[in-house]
Amino acid sequence: MRMRKPFIITIDGPAGSGKTTTARLVAERLGFPYIDTGAMYRAVAYAVLSEGLDASDEPSICRLVQRITVESVTVDGVRRTLLNGVDVEPYIRSREISRLASIVSAIPCVRQAMVARQRAAVEGVKGAVLEGRDIGTVVFPDAPCKIYLVADSRTRAERRRLQLAAQGQEVDASTLEREIAERDAFDASRSHSPLRKPEDAVEVDTTHLTIKEQVDAIVGIAGEKMTQSGGTNA
Ligand code: DC
Repeated sequence: MRMRKPFIITIDGPAGSGKTTTARLVAERLGFPYIDTGAMYRAVAYAVLSEGLDASDEPSICRLVQRITVESVTVDGVRRTLLNGVDVEPYIRSREISRLASIVSAIPCVRQAMVARQRAAVEGVKGAVLEGRDIGTVVFPDAPCKIYLVADSRTRAERRRLQLAAQGQEVDASTLEREIAERDAFDASRSHSPLRKPEDAVEVDTTHLTIKEQVDAIVGIAGEKMTQSGGTNA
């Protein structure tokens, strides 16, 4: 019997556009697994840092990526990022890792390895929500439901400031606005899988939306697409 393809919801967008919180809650509402692909690149960056590798040493990074296992999973509603089976989530949200993740994610062998794992992670599931930069364009170009989240740069910087403050890191919003702009420019200009809006994505501007409004909007769009596609990707 032919397996039904999972109903994939892709949520792409720049840093701080609200992808993580939204994707997690949308997945919870629909009873689907949620995969934070940015966390996977952050875990690779953490491994690069832990091994003392230089971010420009591509051959060593390619060898490292073949040796490690990286997974984004949700356990009892809590996101976990597993590097070789160990949860590194507490260590991968710093500004240093944000910067390094953006650099290592531009390396083709890193992308190849992560994309293969992202595709394998949804095999056999009914549906899944994946968030990142290239999910609707490269990882699942045939996904039936694609969302592109945006928000103005000041709002995004303020969200990041609050997240870092909650972890005890006080950074002013204007510094973060500059860092986010630099990272977005780098992510959008790299030659492999740059950040861009998929042509068939629905754009949702979260600047003036509450989290509940964002989640309701996307669950609504997903419901319509699910009806149109008969509940699958096929
Ligand atoms: O979403 P995030 O801020 O956790 O992502 C960290 C970095 O990982 C981001 O600067 C670019 C990279 N990334 C990517 O290249 N492709 C993805 N699908 C997700 C993230």
